[in-house]
Amino acid sequence: QRKIIIDTDPGQDDAVAILLALASPVEIDLLGIVAVAGNVGLAQNAKNALKVVELSGRTDVAVYAGCSRPLRRELVTAEHVHGQTGLDGPDLPEPVKILEEQHGVDFIIETIMREPEGTVTLCALGPLTNLAMALVKAPAIAARIKEIVLMGGAYFEVGNITPAAEFNIYVDPEAADVVFRSGVPLVVMPLDVTHQMLSTPERIQAFRDLGNASGSAIAEMLGFSERFDLEKYGWDGAPLHDPCVTAYLLAPEIFEGRLCNVEIETDSELTRGMTVADYWHVTGKPKNALFVRNGDANAFYALLTDRIARLP
Ligand code: BDR
Ligand code: CA
Repeated sequence: QRKIIIDTDPGQDDAVAILLALASPVEIDLLGIVAVAGNVGLAQNAKNALKVVELSGRTDVAVYAGCSRPLRRELVTAEHVHGQTGLDGPDLPEPVKILEEQHGVDFIIETIMREPEGTVTLCALGPLTNLAMALVKAPAIAARIKEIVLMGGAYFEVGNITPAAEFNIYVDPEAADVVFRSGVPLVVMPLDVTHQMLSTPERIQAFRDLGNASGSAIAEMLGFSERFDLEKYGWDGAPLHDPCVTAYLLAPEIFEGRLCNVEIETDSELTRGMTVADYWHVTGKPKNALFVRNGDANAFYALLTDRIARLP
């Protein structure tokens, strides 16, 4: 069983990633969820995380709020993709559950220092602000983290918020830089792989056919995400980004990538937040990240529907 913390800005795709973890208690011990500013502002993202936890019936899982803005930049949000609430689509009730009082960054630090060394995995589904803050505030955590599995970046596939950059890295490139230089083993799910995980009408229908509240909510969420992406890309479904992170924990064989050096562009305005992956090891720099490039979309959706079927 893997102990994990999910750091997130839900987000329809974040919600699916969280539900997958919550539906898999045998393999995943979810120690807590931390919200970060990203798709929308921090307060709304935190509220969305509470809604997702309530939808799953797993109200035992604590939710924290982390940082409300990137380390050195103004926050850039994505209401144009996710809607005004960040989680448009399903009609989820106002949460009854409340946020923990502790700051999310302190929760991350305290948990990693408390749990045995090398046992906690951090799963990042939004901008990397909270993770970077934790690493800067308590550098001793770096050697104790088992692994960071994150959705972010793009290299062979072009960017989505600018031609060069993916949203999560673009929003807080300085934070990403801290994380990529931290020495913690990294698994990166860039657009290169998430753009293969298309939510086609058949796959959305499969969630609806589960007949449970979680399956219906996911069908509504993915239906909403499509509206923007179908027009933008002209594909037969929208990419499902963040669940690649939690699916990797359950079934790493779905994915294929290469260990290489990845650095973050922080200086240029044109390529701000670009994840420069040294795929052919031309620099000789240390290999700091497993950069995932391909995934089996049918196996990915089969895993998702199988697990979501177990939820209320
Ligand atoms: C990432 O940006 C967010 O809008 C999604 O939730 C995902 O984490 C994709 O670029
Ligand atoms: Ca996200």
